[in-house]
Amino acid sequence: MTVTSATREVLAIHGGPPVRETLLPYGRQSIDENDIQAVVETLRSEWLTTGPKVAEFEEAFAARIGTKHAVSFSSGTAALHAAAFTAGLKPGDEAITSPLTFVATANCVLYQGATPVFADVSPDTLNLDPEQAASRVTPRTRAIFPVDYAGHPADLDAIRQMAERKGLVVIEDACHALGAEYRGRWVGSLAHMTVFSFHPIKHLTTGEGGMVTTDNPGSAETLRRFRNHGISSNARQRQTAGQWYYEMVLLGFNYRLTDIACALGIQQLGKLETNLARRRQIAARYTAAFRQVRGVIPPSIRSEANPAWHLYPIRLDLTKLSASRGQVFQALRAENIGVNAHYTPVHLHPYYRDRFGYRGGEYPVAEDAYERLISLPMFHGMSDGDVEDVVRAVIKVVAHFTK
Ligand SMILES: Cc1ncc(COP(=O)(O)O)c(C=O)c1O
Repeated sequence: MTVTSATREVLAIHGGPPVRETLLPYGRQSIDENDIQAVVETLRSEWLTTGPKVAEFEEAFAARIGTKHAVSFSSGTAALHAAAFTAGLKPGDEAITSPLTFVATANCVLYQGATPVFADVSPDTLNLDPEQAASRVTPRTRAIFPVDYAGHPADLDAIRQMAERKGLVVIEDACHALGAEYRGRWVGSLAHMTVFSFHPIKHLTTGEGGMVTTDNPGSAETLRRFRNHGISSNARQRQTAGQWYYEMVLLGFNYRLTDIACALGIQQLGKLETNLARRRQIAARYTAAFRQVRGVIPPSIRSEANPAWHLYPIRLDLTKLSASRGQVFQALRAENIGVNAHYTPVHLHPYYRDRFGYRGGEYPVAEDAYERLISLPMFHGMSDGDVEDVVRAVIKVVAHFTK
């Protein structure tokens, strides 16, 4: 799109009127009366936790994804930790993951006393590059954690083939990708274990919550024990069997998801298709609007993928703009568009720098992307008016800074 200085509007950051009066957040939950009713009914029931709603949610989730087992957790982070434990990660082991992710993906490796090893991402999807990952494998590598960045599935075929050759466990961090498809299959059925999050800005929410899906019954059993102190049966099983005896067989945690949360999850799962369809509609509108905007690069979609659009991250082409990412970001905020940036590469956080000696420059594709990324508002509750506000604000701000 060619914009001359005559068409440039005064930005809100320079005192002009903002595109919107109120801030549009980058993500927000949608809760309706049926959700509230389901939670209230559970509050009035016998079981607030470890009750029937947990199994009901897990069974419905496994059926939706097409896996044999789904094991719920108190958060996506707890679910990642449990998957790292179940993969057998221990001190001395290494696990490969992407630097362009939320810190929890790498932290769960540290929880097990093992070492996260990063590998750079592919320039188009910003997902773990299978060749880079293969080059990081050592005799100590035990697992690989591909991340479905923004909801676009990682290159699971290539990663699985490599993992098979090298004897690695594949744990897919699909916290962004509930409902995404890869070569016609649901994310959740592609890896040894797949991890989801139900944080409020995700495709479905339980407040806090997470899930691991797997087809392996032994892994499912270990995941269930790990979330319940390492105990081999739960209170409901004991009550039903009329027994008091239990055994702790491994060192676990209390990572259980409550029946209150699961009641909400069951309701929300029923709306997943509608929510996904809306997110895909919003993404299509954004991409159509931004494709021709000089200085803006919309996210790429590979032909084998149908993304779930947890995020909609644009990349700026800073060679075409007279402003930094920070200036564009602040200008969009001033227009009342709640933009964000995903993610500060994990190895550049002070904890990782101090502990592992990273200095920057180790993962050039991820680091370069990070310098140019801006996440636009993306949630299924956005109105058409909200979407158009974002389109207008991006075009207004980028046009102002176009060289
Ligand atoms: C990629 C990724 N992994 C893990 C997590 C952790 O999930 P939770 O917030 O449910 O603990 C998140 C959370 O947003 C995430 O985005």
